[in-house]
Amino acid sequence: MDKNIAVLKGDGIGPEVMREALKVLNIVSENSNINFVFNDALVGAVAIEKEGDPFPKSTKELCKNSDAILFGAIGDPKFDNNPKAKVRPEDGLLEMRKFLGLYVNVRPVKTYESLLDSSPLKKEIISGTDFVVYRELTGGIYFGDKGISEDGNSAYDTCSYNVEEIERISHLAFKEAINRNNELTLVDKANVLSTSRLWRETVQRLAKKYNNVNVSYLFVDNAAMKIITNPSEFDVILTENMFGDIITDEASVITGSLGMLPSASIGNEISLYEPIHGSYPQASGKNIANPMAMILSAGLMLDLSFGMKKESEFINKAVKEALENGIVTEDINNSDNFSTSEVGDWIAKKVRELYLI
Ligand code: IPM
Ligand code: MG
Repeated sequence: MDKNIAVLKGDGIGPEVMREALKVLNIVSENSNINFVFNDALVGAVAIEKEGDPFPKSTKELCKNSDAILFGAIGDPKFDNNPKAKVRPEDGLLEMRKFLGLYVNVRPVKTYESLLDSSPLKKEIISGTDFVVYRELTGGIYFGDKGISEDGNSAYDTCSYNVEEIERISHLAFKEAINRNNELTLVDKANVLSTSRLWRETVQRLAKKYNNVNVSYLFVDNAAMKIITNPSEFDVILTENMFGDIITDEASVITGSLGMLPSASIGNEISLYEPIHGSYPQASGKNIANPMAMILSAGLMLDLSFGMKKESEFINKAVKEALENGIVTEDINNSDNFSTSEVGDWIAKKVRELYLI
C-alpha cells in the first residue's frame, strides 16, 4: 500500500536531518507492505527566496493531498534581526498550522539513561523523567488580533480562546493520560488571565467525565520552576499556545540535547511531524547536526498516522542503542563523535537488523 508523505525539508539543517529520516523510512518500506512515496515541497526561507512566499500554494496543495507531513526546520538569521521584514519564514509555519488545522502539538520529553550526564540538571533530579506536553497550536495570542498604531508608538496582540478550541485538545490530553499514568496537569495563568480561567473551567468540567484521571492545576510561572526542580513528577501537561511554546523549550534541555526531541502536530485530517530543534543555521551544510529528533519524528508518524507501532518501536530502540554505543553527533559528545550521515546510517542498519530478529 502506498503512503504519500509530503517532505518539507525547510531551512538550515532541515535538509540534512531529513535525509537521514528518509533513509530509515526506506528500510521500513523495504521490510513491510507499506511503500512510502516521498514528495518534496518548499517551505520557509528557501520558499521565500524561490517563490516569495514561505508556504506557497504548491506546498499547500501537496500537504492537503498527502497522508502525512514530515517537516525539517524553518528559520533564517537574515530575518531574525529585521523587525521590518514583510514576510518571515515563521509566518509559513503559522499559516501551515492554521491552514491544515493542526490544533495540537504533542511533545514527549523523555530522558535516556545514557544521556543523564549530559543534562545541565543533576542526574538525581532528571532521572525517570517521562512526560508529554499537549500544546494548543492554532489559537491564543499567536493568532488573535494584532497590530501597531500608525505612529508606531504602540502595538497589541490579543489572546482569545473559545470552549470548542479548549475542549478538542483537552479530550486528546485526557485520553493520553489514560494511556499513561492517569495524571494530567493544566498549566495556565488563571490568577490573571480570562482565557486561562476559561481553560480551567472547561478542563474542570471535562474532568468529571474522565474520573480516573487525577487532574492538577499549575500557574505557568510555578510550572516553569517545577519542570526544572522536579521534572519526573509530570505525566501529561496540557496548556495553551504560548505557554506551551515556552515550557517545551525549557523542558527540552532536561534531556541533555535539544537534538533528541521529536514532535507531532495533529489535526483531524492530517498530521505533521517535526523535530523541535529548529534550523540551527550555524551547523547547516556541515554534516554535524543530530538527526535523532528527525528520525524519532518519523517514528512518531509511523505510530500516530499509520498505526505502525512495531516499526515505530524499532526506530526508538535503534536510536536508544545508537546512544548507548556512542554513535552520536557532537552536540552529545564533543570529543568522540560521528557525522549526521554516519549516525543515520547506523540507525538505519540497526532498524534493518531488528526486522531480522
Ligand atoms: C515552535 C517554534 C515556533 C512557535 C516559531 C518558529 C513560530 O518556536 O514550533 O515552538 O513559536 O510555535
Ligand atoms: Mg518554540
